[in-house]
Amino acid sequence: MTTRKPLASISATARFLPDNVLTNADLERMVDTSDAWIRERTGILERRIAPPEMGVVEMGKRAAQRALKKAGLTPDDVDVLIVTTATPDRLLPATACEIQAAIGASRGCYAYDLQAACTGFLYALSAAEGHIAAGQAETVLLVATEKMSVITNWEDRSSCILFGDGAGAVVVQPSRNGEGMLSSHHSSNGDLAPLLIRRAGGGALPLTPERLHNQEHMMEMSGPEIFKAAVKSMAGAGRKVMKDAGVTADDIDILVPHQANIRIIESTARYARIPMDRVFVNLQHYGNISSATIPVGLDEAIEGGRIGPGSVVLMTAFGAGLTWGATLVRW
Ligand code: UT7
Repeated sequence: MTTRKPLASISATARFLPDNVLTNADLERMVDTSDAWIRERTGILERRIAPPEMGVVEMGKRAAQRALKKAGLTPDDVDVLIVTTATPDRLLPATACEIQAAIGASRGCYAYDLQAACTGFLYALSAAEGHIAAGQAETVLLVATEKMSVITNWEDRSSCILFGDGAGAVVVQPSRNGEGMLSSHHSSNGDLAPLLIRRAGGGALPLTPERLHNQEHMMEMSGPEIFKAAVKSMAGAGRKVMKDAGVTADDIDILVPHQANIRIIESTARYARIPMDRVFVNLQHYGNISSATIPVGLDEAIEGGRIGPGSVVLMTAFGAGLTWGATLVRW
C-alpha cells in the first residue's frame, strides 16, 4: 500500500437503537405489501421505530455518551460536535447544540449540523478530519441520529418499508500510530434533488392544513432511479478512494456500505470486486437509518470481531441530494 500518513482516526464507536421493532408482518397490516416482496426486493426483515417522546436528540445523546465512555473521555474533552440528521426534532437551533446541552459539553466546544442525508456520516468524517488537520480540535464527536419514521409516508408502500430509526456516534482524534483515514472522495448532484425530497414544511412551501392533509411534508422517493444512481455512485467512489490510496479490492478487509437495499449492496460490492463475505450487512434488522447506518455498522462490526487494529475498512454511501461518497480507513 502506498498511502499518505493518516491525520485523523476513529478512536471509539457506539450505537443506540430504540427497542420497538416493526416487522414486515406489521407492514402487511398497514399497506398492500407482503413479507416475501419486502425480503426479496430489499432484504429487510424488520426495523426499529422510536416512541413519540424519543427524538433524534435523545437517541443521539445516548449514542454520544456511549462513544465518549468507550473512548475514556468526558464531555469537557469534546472540542467540536458535529451532528448529521435529516430529521431534526426542531428546525432551529441546530440539533448539535441540543445534543451538546444534553450531554453537558457546552464548555469550550462548538457544535453544528451537517446535512447530506444518508451520506452525512462520511461528509462529517471528512469535516472532522479537517478540524484535526487544521489544528482546531483534538477531539471531534460525530453523532449521526435519525428518526426516519417521522418523515415516512406510511401510506406509500414503495418507501415506508425501507426506513427505521436509530443513532450512531464516533470519536475522531489525531492519528497516533499510522491508523486512520487514508483517503476520501465525495460528490453531489443537485440536479437529481427531486428524486428524494420533502416538498413542504420549509420556507418555499410552508405548512398549510391542505399540504399537511396531502402529506406533502413527507418523503417522496423515485425508488428505481435512486437505485441505479446509488450503485454507480457508491461503486465509483469506492474504486476512486482505493485507487487514490494505492489499495486494491484484495486489500479491503471489510466494506461497510450504507444499508439501503441488499440488492444495492450486492451490486456495489460486485462492481467494486469485493466478495460478499467481506461486506458488512445489518439492514435485515434495522432497514435504512439514513446517516446512522455506517456508524451503527462500524460499531457492530467491531463488536463482532470483524474490524480490529490494522483492518482496512472501506465505507460507501449515497443519499438525497443526490450525495455520495467513500472513505477508506486503516483501523
Ligand atoms: O438512502 C436512499 C433511500 N432510497 C433508496 O435506497 C431507494 C432505492 N430503491 C429501492 O430500494 C427500490 O427501488 C425499491 C425497494 C424502492 C423498489 O424496488 P423495485 O424493485 O425498484 O420495484 P419498482 O419500484 O420497480 O416496483 C415494481 C413493482 C411495482 O408494481 P407493478 O407496477 O410492476 O405492478 C410496484 O408497484 O412492485 C410494486 N411495489 C410493491 N409491491 C409490494 C412497490 N413497492 C411494493 C411493496 N410491496 N412494498
